[in-house]
Amino acid sequence: MATIILAKPQRSIFLLILFFTIFSFSTSLAITEDPSDEVFSKFISPSSLGLTKREKLSHLHFYLHDIVSGKNATVIRVAGATNAKRTASTSSPFSFGSVYMIDDPLTMKPDINSTMVGRAQGLYSYASQSELSLLMVLNFAFTHGKFNGSTLSVLGRNNVLSTVREMPILGGSGVFRFARGYAQAKTYSINFFEAIVEYNIYVFHY
Ligand SMILES: *[C@@H]1O[C@H](CO)[C@@H](O)[C@H](O)[C@H]1NC(C)=O
Ligand SMILES: *[C@@H]1O[C@H](CO)[C@@H](O)[C@H](O)[C@H]1NC(C)=O
Ligand SMILES: *[C@@H]1O[C@H](CO)[C@@H](O)[C@H](O)[C@H]1NC(C)=O
Repeated sequence: MATIILAKPQRSIFLLILFFTIFSFSTSLAITEDPSDEVFSKFISPSSLGLTKREKLSHLHFYLHDIVSGKNATVIRVAGATNAKRTASTSSPFSFGSVYMIDDPLTMKPDINSTMVGRAQGLYSYASQSELSLLMVLNFAFTHGKFNGSTLSVLGRNNVLSTVREMPILGGSGVFRFARGYAQAKTYSINFFEAIVEYNIYVFHY
């Protein structure tokens, strides 16, 4: 009984010394083998990136022109089963699996000849087997005013027959660094030639 009581603190002191020996050894090893000019990651102050200002909330409003036919079409189908090759699993009436690439102009007014503010570049694909629903993966590349050269990135679900579709804004570049927010899309007009979609974007940025 007495030997156990004596042995316990001795053992823990030994383990403690062993621990510190290994720990200080590995620390000195790390310092000698990892020069400070090869640091992979470190904490920095937000002010070093000019993030001292308060976050701003911007509302952007524009019209997207998805021109599906004619010589100035802005949409191209890049993948998907053709009608002839449809199998039982791809015979969905909702174009399931089709992928389209877009380079759509964005204008201030519904008129395509009104001031252009940028382009929507990316892709949408038909992502549902039971309804008309798109997966949107695109960048809004702005070319107008203080947003010229800045982008916003969208990744979301576009249930095209709903009156208003909401998609997350995951980030951005330029004045939209650290951006986050959402986009609301509403069909303005649609025919066999083009779809005009009204966009309202609400985004936090610095
Ligand atoms: C197609 O684009 C060209 C060059 O931008 C333009 O001159 C022409 O009017 C456009 N055609 C149509 C049908 O919009
Ligand atoms: C836009 O301008 C082009 C040529 O400049 C013209 O052909 C076209 O009809 C105009 N579109 C609209 C909607 O006014
Ligand atoms: C946008 O920026 C580009 C490159 O800096 C410049 O060439 C262009 O004139 C600018 N456009 C507008 C509308 O300010």
